[in-house]
Amino acid sequence: MLKTIIRERRSIKKFNGKPVSLSDVTAVLDDAAWAPNHGNREPWRFVVAGEKGLEAIRETLKECTIPKWEMLSEEELEKKTAGFKLPGAFVFVIVPEDARQKERLEDFSAASAFIQNAQLLAWEKGIGTCWKTPAWLDAPKFRQALNVKPGERILALLQFGYCDEVPKAKERTPIEEKITYFG
Ligand SMILES: Cc1cc2nc3c(=O)[nH]c(=O)nc-3n(C[C@H](O)[C@H](O)[C@H](O)COP(=O)(O)O)c2cc1C
Repeated sequence: MLKTIIRERRSIKKFNGKPVSLSDVTAVLDDAAWAPNHGNREPWRFVVAGEKGLEAIRETLKECTIPKWEMLSEEELEKKTAGFKLPGAFVFVIVPEDARQKERLEDFSAASAFIQNAQLLAWEKGIGTCWKTPAWLDAPKFRQALNVKPGERILALLQFGYCDEVPKAKERTPIEEKITYFG
C-alpha cells in the first residue's frame, strides 16, 4: 500500500555491501520517470555507477579542489570514502539549470518528485536508498569526470543498497501544527 511505503521508507546510511542489480536500478528509474514535470520537459538525466564506478569516484575525489577535500590527508580521505564500497550503486541525478528562474524552479521540483518516486519504488523492491548532497558534487573536477555540462547541475547522489537493519524513524510534526486555514 502506498501509504505504508511512504511512511515506512527510511533513508539508509549503513549498507551491507550486497550488490544491487543494475537492471533493478534501471527499472526503478524507468517507473520514477512518471513524476509530474512541467511542459513534459523531463528535466533529468543520470549517471549510474556500479561497483567499478564507485572505485573510480573515490579516485576522482582525490583530485577534487573543494577546499574541504583539499585539506584531507590521504588517510582521512580513505576513512571518509571507505563506505563507498558498501552501497550497491550510485545514481547521480543531473538537472538542467534553466536561465529562467521559474523554469529552473519547476525543473528542480520535478526532479525532486522523480527522486522521491525512485526512493519509494526501490523500497518496494526491498532496496534502500539515501539522497545525498555532498559538497563535492559541485567540484569542477568531479563534474568534469561525470561529463556534466555547463548549464547542468548534479542535484543528488542517490545511493542504492541493501541493509541489515532499518533505522528508527525520525518522527514528523503532527500536520495540524503546519496548517493554517484560510477563510
Ligand atoms: C535534499 C536532500 C538532501 C539530503 N542530503 C543528505 C546528505 O547529504 N547526507 C545524508 O546523510 N542524508 C541526506 N539526506 C537524507 C535526510 O537526512 C533524510 O531524509 C532525513 O534524515 C529523514 O530520514 P528518512 O528519509 O529516513 O525519513 C537528504 C535528504 C534530502 C531530501
